[in-house]
Amino acid sequence: MSNYHIKHLEEYYQVYRKSLRDPETFWAEVAEEHFMWRKKWDNVLSWDFTKPEIKWFEGAQLNITENCIDRHLRNRGHKTAILFEPNDPNEDAQHITYKQLHERVCKFANVLKEQGIAKGDRVCIYLPMIPELAISVLACARIGAVHSVVFAGFSATALSTRINDCEAKMVITSDGSYRGAKTIDLKGIVDEALEDCSGISSVLVAKRVGSDIQMKSGRDHWLEPLLEAAYKDCVPEIMDAEDPLFILYTSGSTGMPKGMLHTTAGYMVYTAYTFKNVFQYREDDIYWCTADIGWITGHSYIVYGPLANGATTVMFEGVPSYPDFGRFWDIVQKHKITQFYTAPTAIRALAKENLDYVTNRDLSSLKVLGTVGEPINEEAWHWYNDHVGDKKSPIVDTWWQTETGGIMISPIPYSTPTKPTYATLPMPGIQPALMDENGIEIKGNQVDGRLCIKFPWPSMARTIWGNHKRFKETYFSAFENKYFTGDGALRDEVGYYRITGRVDDVIIVSGHNLGTAPIEDAINEHPAVAESAIVGFPHDIKGNALYGYVILKETGESRDRDNLSKEVNQQITDKIGPIAKLDKIQFVPGLPKTRSGKIMRRILRKIASKDTSNLGDTSTLLNPEVVKEIMDKAL
Ligand code: WT7
Repeated sequence: MSNYHIKHLEEYYQVYRKSLRDPETFWAEVAEEHFMWRKKWDNVLSWDFTKPEIKWFEGAQLNITENCIDRHLRNRGHKTAILFEPNDPNEDAQHITYKQLHERVCKFANVLKEQGIAKGDRVCIYLPMIPELAISVLACARIGAVHSVVFAGFSATALSTRINDCEAKMVITSDGSYRGAKTIDLKGIVDEALEDCSGISSVLVAKRVGSDIQMKSGRDHWLEPLLEAAYKDCVPEIMDAEDPLFILYTSGSTGMPKGMLHTTAGYMVYTAYTFKNVFQYREDDIYWCTADIGWITGHSYIVYGPLANGATTVMFEGVPSYPDFGRFWDIVQKHKITQFYTAPTAIRALAKENLDYVTNRDLSSLKVLGTVGEPINEEAWHWYNDHVGDKKSPIVDTWWQTETGGIMISPIPYSTPTKPTYATLPMPGIQPALMDENGIEIKGNQVDGRLCIKFPWPSMARTIWGNHKRFKETYFSAFENKYFTGDGALRDEVGYYRITGRVDDVIIVSGHNLGTAPIEDAINEHPAVAESAIVGFPHDIKGNALYGYVILKETGESRDRDNLSKEVNQQITDKIGPIAKLDKIQFVPGLPKTRSGKIMRRILRKIASKDTSNLGDTSTLLNPEVVKEIMDKAL
């Protein structure tokens, strides 16, 4: 029996039981058999959730790019590693072989070194979904620099906050990006961000759109000539198992975004292992994950997991609606995609369009369909299953988080019988627990509670960059000796898990994790705004949309409400990005508060969802009268 590739349900249970009985032997066997180590570990695992401190494969030495590239050169040198599908369907797709990837990563790594980047330095990557994005990520890993990719839809303020938080020395960007029919001036956004970032000594600029941009002399460099001049081989930096690999920011329910730190060996082992099993990956498959590399999904399941398995991974630059709503299915047909991994919000958006877009394409190459990012509703699940999968391709509803690094709960296709809206069973090595409000674990089936994980797994985040205290408080303090996910879940009669949604102040909009506090902070900076509160409400396509309650200052009272609404959304776009814009804005005289001054979001959520039949007891509020006033004018 191989731990690495599970092929039927009985085997899953055997492997799972083994992984609980002796996690260290289990993961050591996986690590031993499938990766290239410069030095083996002295100790598989040491951990203490009270500190918290987690170390996997301590003493081991490796370079993750040797595992993702070099070791495939002998047998897969001419196999496509990255298949790039451009925004414009008339532009040719690019097949980058493992051999070419090796050369491009090495050259890029040498450019980084020439620019003064060394092991441990942070490099911020702000690029669209073009090959340079994956290549620059790998180039950082090649020389031991810590990459921090910022999604290229984030604003200048969001970018500068992240650059400053991780004290990056360099930014890698492009002259612009294509998004459907639009062209976005990425370099302009970087220039604006860098006005607030004194630590950046150089900016590398890839040419993509060919626009006329400003280059600041001494700081900005076109990438192409540097790459051309660079040497084509680069000896990989030998890294310790627990050396940082990357920082990726995720929103918290309060304050600053959290820079989740992932380290090298455990992350590699776990993402490779879950990629192979969750997608039942086979040698000649063409795998496509539609996420952006700016999110954890792209890090783990476009770049590292697939490449560690020697797979062909597709990178798509564009959007599902361009040139029309059949684009995803065109790409599936064109490249004979075997595994297709997307988000429920994309499925819902496409399900709204004419069915011909799907039925007119040949999707028979598909073997596995995946979803991630938020709970998938039953209707979307069936549409995906019936029309995309033709009821033949199992759907893997994969639950995980930026913090977990890899997929935690998911069916194994062709092994685990699927059930709509259920992420089903934990991956080997994952020990979920449902907790009640008193911190007691709820055992047995047909129960629900707060989802925790009781035992470490190799790809878990090790800390929040620069703020270990916050790491401990956010994830390891709500429940003793357990990692708290922030999600609620239920376990059905056979032990399948269904994620019911966040139990904290994080709202998932179109699969993006948005904290209420940063959005409220952005709104409150508007000169006419006194205070605000954001809640989520159900939305057909986005899953949740944002509803903002805004109290104006006296000086704002006379202003036109439509204009104010536009300005509030502009404020959010500037500070965070367009993904955090509000769908509805209600100007209110006050917000319902407890006597200790805490906003009662529960009431605001009910009003926003038009579910006011049972508001509960409002008499203990500081200002009960405001509830009726808000309800009367609700949007
Ligand atoms: C939150 C994490 C993991 C990559 C994308 C999101 C929600 C994620 C599912 C799913 C129900 C899900 C959770 C989780 N979530 N996948 N299959 N079913 N909910 O990463 O931005 O870190 O967000 O997304 O609420 O906590 P993220």
